[in-house]
Amino acid sequence: MKKILSLTAIATAVLVFSNCSSSKKAAAAVPVKYNYETNVQSVIAANCAPCHIPSKGGNKRPYDNFANVKSDIDEIIRRIELAPGTRGFMPMRGSKLSDSTINVFKQWKTDGLLEK
Ligand code: HEC
Repeated sequence: MKKILSLTAIATAVLVFSNCSSSKKAAAAVPVKYNYETNVQSVIAANCAPCHIPSKGGNKRPYDNFANVKSDIDEIIRRIELAPGTRGFMPMRGSKLSDSTINVFKQWKTDGLLEK
């Protein structure tokens, strides 16, 4: 009886641990891709308003929508990587975005410019 109990305990432990490692592997194999709605929209709202957000009174090219941001992504990345003070630097009159914020735009492009 004791033997059966300990065998059951071992079997249970093996099951639990093998489940753990297989679910971890599955998560690593399918990294979540960046998309406009989850990753990009909020960064633009925080850094490119009011100028590029018509509802905030902006009258520059609107970046409150997926289509414009997608079509201009190369120009957006080029400008946010310029040195502050350089002609064309964005956000205009602001300070340079952090590397991790710039990387949101780059990663989104790498991942295929998904909307959601
Ligand atoms: C203080 C206002 C202001 C802010 C904030 C701002 N911009 Fe701009 N942006 C402008 C102005 C003015 C222009 C037009 C002049 C020019 O092209 O440099 C412009 C033009 C641009 C263009 C060229 C658009 C075109 O018509 O080809 C891009 C791309 C751009 N901005 C990206 C951004 C991004 C990305 C942010 C946020 C990280 C941002 N801007 C923040 C004022 C701003």
